[in-house]
Amino acid sequence: MFDRHIPETMAQCSAINYQEILDTDTRPVPDCLRERSVPDIGTKPVSVEHYTSPEVFQRSISKVWLRTWQMACREEEIPLVGDYQIYDVVGKSLIIVRSGPDEIRALHNSCLHRGRKLVTQNGSKREFRCPFHGFTWAPDGAFLFNPVEWDFPQCSHEQLRLPEAKVARWGGFVFINFDPGAPSLDSVIDPIPRHFDRWVMEDKYIFAHVAKRAKANWMIAQEAFMETHHSIGTHPQIMPFITDANAQYDIFSDHVTRHISGRGHQSPFITDRVLTQDEIANALLNQGVAPRGAAPNALSVVPEGMTARSYVAEIARASLQQETGYDLAETADCELGDSLIYNLFPNLSVWGGAIPNLVYRWRPVGRRHDESMMEIYILKRVPKGDARPRPARMQLLGDDEPWASADNIGGLGPVVDQDWANMEAMQEGLAASEAQVVQLGHYLEMRIRQHHATFDAYCEESP
Ligand code: FES
Ligand SMILES: [Fe+2]
Repeated sequence: MFDRHIPETMAQCSAINYQEILDTDTRPVPDCLRERSVPDIGTKPVSVEHYTSPEVFQRSISKVWLRTWQMACREEEIPLVGDYQIYDVVGKSLIIVRSGPDEIRALHNSCLHRGRKLVTQNGSKREFRCPFHGFTWAPDGAFLFNPVEWDFPQCSHEQLRLPEAKVARWGGFVFINFDPGAPSLDSVIDPIPRHFDRWVMEDKYIFAHVAKRAKANWMIAQEAFMETHHSIGTHPQIMPFITDANAQYDIFSDHVTRHISGRGHQSPFITDRVLTQDEIANALLNQGVAPRGAAPNALSVVPEGMTARSYVAEIARASLQQETGYDLAETADCELGDSLIYNLFPNLSVWGGAIPNLVYRWRPVGRRHDESMMEIYILKRVPKGDARPRPARMQLLGDDEPWASADNIGGLGPVVDQDWANMEAMQEGLAASEAQVVQLGHYLEMRIRQHHATFDAYCEESP
């Protein structure tokens, strides 16, 4: 029924693949997870300059960052008229403000008098009054007031309207684009809205939001999260229960790629023995589910007739049902634990599924090619009948604070710390490269290859 075709030119890991894992699901599997898109985009090496060259980075500011759709905030962070969030990137700054009950604008955060930032902290305002000399704007960007208006014969109110970037919304996320001529968000985000139809991202709230600076280019930071076969070197503790070299990769367009790792199967990197279902289940329950600081779960025995995968999915189904009040009887095992990771070029990752969804966002720090910021959000479903909880405020970790010390991200923290241990060494290693290119796997790293191809296409295109 669905195209499971992989080009014959591409070798595959011989271990069980994700489509075969889906065949064992205890419930009907969502169509979107059966959809495959695996173009052969070749094996050409990628230049290290993408990561190391200040010139390439400078060019990407106008060619990529000021032309692409970027997730700026969640709608729930600005629920009332006048609420705003600041979105800073590559030296630009936007005020993402709710200017009407169902209207959101992205105003350039730079006073049209002498240029002060109008706001430097997120908040809520009835009007934006510049702290320097008091020029004032309405939340819709209309100019309201100049205390010495008689001295500005050259400026009409219309000329003093705050410039805006484009705004679009999907799934409770607010996106911006600096380019007034940019194609619509809809034209680049497909098939994400269709695939996420049943995971209702607009019903989710920010349960956790943590950020940390990486001493590495934004592509290095992002690409650390675009494949799973680095578990062999970086996260050996997850190998008993997550597929890696046999993970699934899809390229849906030059802007949207996907990566899926199934849970409840041992990694093909474990070659010395076949783990029992009890061993897999216990590894999964203790490493992947137990919150940080909590005592490990008591050893579990997988019930007769179940697998580690279906057993752990059943535990997740029951606990999520209890937490949210929604009936998950028809929710498939794959939606209750597999890593279903969609990326939107240039810098957003959103995890699908019925369980709390992870969202990652990467940005360069200021106009630096060798520093970036990564943010992790955990979005949870608002319990049935409950008022929407207030979104968690962003926690910015210091350089010496590990992800493991972050609030509310549980067992994810120590795993991300393992990824973090590669960041600076990647930046330095790439800068030291004699080869001047990096080699990518044909299949396992094809979405990283696509990331660079799309980056190149933007950089080469004239605006
Ligand atoms: S710089 Fe803003 S009012 Fe003068
Ligand atoms: Fe990792």
